[in-house]
Parts: sequence; C-alpha cells; structure tokens
Amino acid sequence: TRTIAMAPSLMTMDLDQFKEQITFLNDKVNMYHIDVMDGHFVPNISLSPWFIGEVRKISNLPMDAHLMVTDAEFWVDQLIDIKCERINMPSEVINGKAFSLIGKIHAAGLKAGVVLNPETPISTIMPYIDQLDNVMIMTIDPGFAGQPFLESTLDKIVELRRLRDEHGYGYEIEMDGSTNLKHWKMISDAAPDTYVIGRSGLFGLTDNIEDSWNQMVGEYE
Ligand code: DX5
Ligand code: ZN
Repeated sequence: TRTIAMAPSLMTMDLDQFKEQITFLNDKVNMYHIDVMDGHFVPNISLSPWFIGEVRKISNLPMDAHLMVTDAEFWVDQLIDIKCERINMPSEVINGKAFSLIGKIHAAGLKAGVVLNPETPISTIMPYIDQLDNVMIMTIDPGFAGQPFLESTLDKIVELRRLRDEHGYGYEIEMDGSTNLKHWKMISDAAPDTYVIGRSGLFGLTDNIEDSWNQMVGEYE
C-alpha cells in the first residue's frame, strides 16, 4: 500500500478551536499547510510567518508554506528566517530568479517547491525541475477554500509521476484544493504523495475536530 501524506490547510480551521485542533492533529498528520497570500497574486489575505510561529508553540510538525504572492523573494526570505521546512513558490512569478531562489532555500537547509496553478503547464518548470523537492498541483483556482474541483489538473500529477520515474527526479508531488469524498477516487488514481485537506474534506465537516477526523477517515478508508 502507498503512503499518503496528509497536510491540513490551516487557513480553513476554526480559530476559536486553534489549540484543540492542532493538538488533536499533531500525531495524525504529516505536516501543516500554511497559505500565505498578499492580496495581489490572489484577491485574499490569509496566514503568515507569524501564524507559523504560533503553531510551533504547540507542534513539532514540519510546515509546508504555499506562497500566493507576487514578490516571492520577500516572502521566501521571511520563511527562511523562521526555518519553514518546505517553501512552495508560485511558478508563475519566479521567472528570472527561480534558480537563485531554489539555491537560497537549499543553502538554508530547507526544502524548495513550486506551485502550478490550474492554467500553468509543467513545461514552465522543466528548466529547474531536477532541483525541486516538491511540486504542488492546484486542483482549484488559488485564493479561497471551497471552490470547484478542476478534474483536468489531475493529468499533471500523472505526468509528473511519469517524468519522475523516467528521469529519476527527486521531487514529491502534492495536490491542493477540494480534497473530499466526492473527489477522493479521482485523486487517489492520480496518486500524489501529499494531499492537502481543507474545509471541504476536514474542518468543515462538523464543528468538532475529532468528529470531523473520524468522519473523514471513515469515508476515505
Ligand atoms: C486555496 C488554498 C487551499 C485551500 C484548500 O488557495 O491553497 O489550501 O485552503 O481548501 P479546500 O480543500 O476546502 O478547497
Ligand atoms: Zn494551499
């Protein structure tokens, strides 16, 4: 059986139950997914390096940052400062500095990833794909939870697995957006390594994290 890594998307958690939810999830999931938006790359603002620090007070799990920002370098520097374990940059805005940003993240001993929005083809990242530790495929438009699942994006996951097998690349493959029972079979057929789970698949199921978790696991197994 395949090992699936779970990354709860903390922008979709209930902030009034911050501590209960993190404490409950700590020994069940592999990392926390932290959406960082600047109000320009996407029309929304969400979590921040400060929030990562708050989670770290009650968790030792690695942090998986998902940057949705136009000034990638500014945010990469902030995340390097707090040693965010995996930093995923928007592939759409790093042209002209992809190699240096990946190099900077690696020099800090951290993992470098890129994100492909639904319209962005794999060819965009081919020049540096061999340097990457992670490739994130957006299965929804970035910016908000609870948006329509874009089935056609799953082809990129299959293609990334094929490329990895063929060339021996070292990246992991992560998917993000509307991971829930309705889409579970399609996603697991495409077989990414990491599933981001947000409002539609976990936090929005009930108003109690243990009930939501049991409902999710019960449905998916
Ligand atoms: C959207 C974020 C996702 C989102 C996932 O821009 O990147 O991580 O929170 O939430 P769901 O799974 O509910 O779509
Ligand atoms: Zn995300």
